[in-house]
Amino acid sequence: MANNIIDNNNDQIWQKGRDSFMEWKMDMWKYYSITHKYHANCNPMSTAKLDELIGLLKLNPGSAVLDIACGKGEMLARLAERYEVSGVGVDISPYFVADTEQKLQERVPGARIEILNMDGADYRHGQSFDLAMCIGASWVYKGHRGTLRALKAMTKPGGLVLVGEPFWLKAPDEAYLAAESYTRSIYGTHHENVLVGEDEGLVPLYTMASNRDDWDRYETLQWYAAEKYAAEHPDDPDVPEILARVSNGRTSYLRWGRDTFGWALYLFQKGTHVD
Ligand SMILES: C[S@@+](CC[C@H](N)C(=O)[O-])C[C@H]1O[C@@H](n2cnc3c(N)ncnc32)[C@H](O)[C@@H]1O
Repeated sequence: MANNIIDNNNDQIWQKGRDSFMEWKMDMWKYYSITHKYHANCNPMSTAKLDELIGLLKLNPGSAVLDIACGKGEMLARLAERYEVSGVGVDISPYFVADTEQKLQERVPGARIEILNMDGADYRHGQSFDLAMCIGASWVYKGHRGTLRALKAMTKPGGLVLVGEPFWLKAPDEAYLAAESYTRSIYGTHHENVLVGEDEGLVPLYTMASNRDDWDRYETLQWYAAEKYAAEHPDDPDVPEILARVSNGRTSYLRWGRDTFGWALYLFQKGTHVD
């Protein structure tokens, strides 16, 4: 299949990122920590749906899992609770790493899960994993295809690859693309996201897409968290920037994103042959 299903292997696009409407003055990781304070998992999927998917993974006790951009560690905690997995979580945010360590300590003390505070792109594996994941952070590997390739390389033959990736519900407005500094080709359709996996030699096992409830919860919990933070920390000089960013995100979501931008978890299996 042609290599151009989704033409997103472009450094510049990924460096711009979603919040390019204003230059960062505050610590970006502090911002995400504040706006995601009330999120368990930092993606537009309900925890109930996540559990349904986790049930399908059917991992053996002691399975090794890798979570690149593990956020607040909800996926790792649930996997350890259900399957007693061991493994590695990687995240660049010191706030989220601290949250993950605390969560694992509280919910699965003694679990053999190492949490690394670093850029996922720099992570070098010393082992192969039964399940390798990167949920909602494909910019780490410059897009969906790069993410699937990187995870596949770190997965045992017959193991599982799980990614969370946006997709277009419909052709995006030019104004939306401009507002978000996106190009059409930065993301694919839902169908294209599956095809890219097949093109990389992976077997599609399952997909789970976010619905409107999932999206509204994910987006509007950020408004809630920001307003609460502003009320509780009136003297924090970062408050105006926090509220401006959240307001910009709210406009973009309500005006375009809610009808245009989808998101799904994609579960693939790596073939049992060694390549
Ligand atoms: C949308 S959140 C998803 C978090 C988690 N996977 C989840 O689904 O709850 C994106 C995550 O990527 C992390 N992140 C961003 N850039 C990263 C990088 N270069 N390397 C590792 N983590 C990164 C952020 O700190 C954040 O935790």
